[in-house]
Amino acid sequence: MLIKWTPDLSVKNEQLDKEHQKWISILNDFYQGLMDGKPKEKLEELVVAMLDYTRYHFSNEEQFMTSINYPDIESHKEKHSYYISRIEEFYSKIKSEKLILSLEVTNFLKNWLINHIKGTDQQYAAFYENKK
Ligand SMILES: [Fe+2]
Ligand SMILES: [Fe+2]
Repeated sequence: MLIKWTPDLSVKNEQLDKEHQKWISILNDFYQGLMDGKPKEKLEELVVAMLDYTRYHFSNEEQFMTSINYPDIESHKEKHSYYISRIEEFYSKIKSEKLILSLEVTNFLKNWLINHIKGTDQQYAAFYENKK
């Protein structure tokens, strides 16, 4: 397994923690597909699944931040857009055969995800905790 959700990744919100767990499991599926040497079409499907779920999660998280009047929402949204555009870029490069899916890509996705939860998502969690 590539990544494991552990309680130190918690954002103190049950729904959003569940989404992070699902998000991580989708990335793990992708990694596993890559390791198993699955055909390109299958890997493309896994990238699309990742993109769809990432969009879904970001949208829910942005709604949550709006609901708690989180002041840093704009810069947080920019980070989300950046990540989405990177995955879209990988996807279109894979489609046009300009990129072969590799561990390097997977590592980028993995590191971004973990750093984002720990460095950025946990900031709204801290803000919400202080507000209570
Ligand atoms: Fe986020
Ligand atoms: Fe998140």
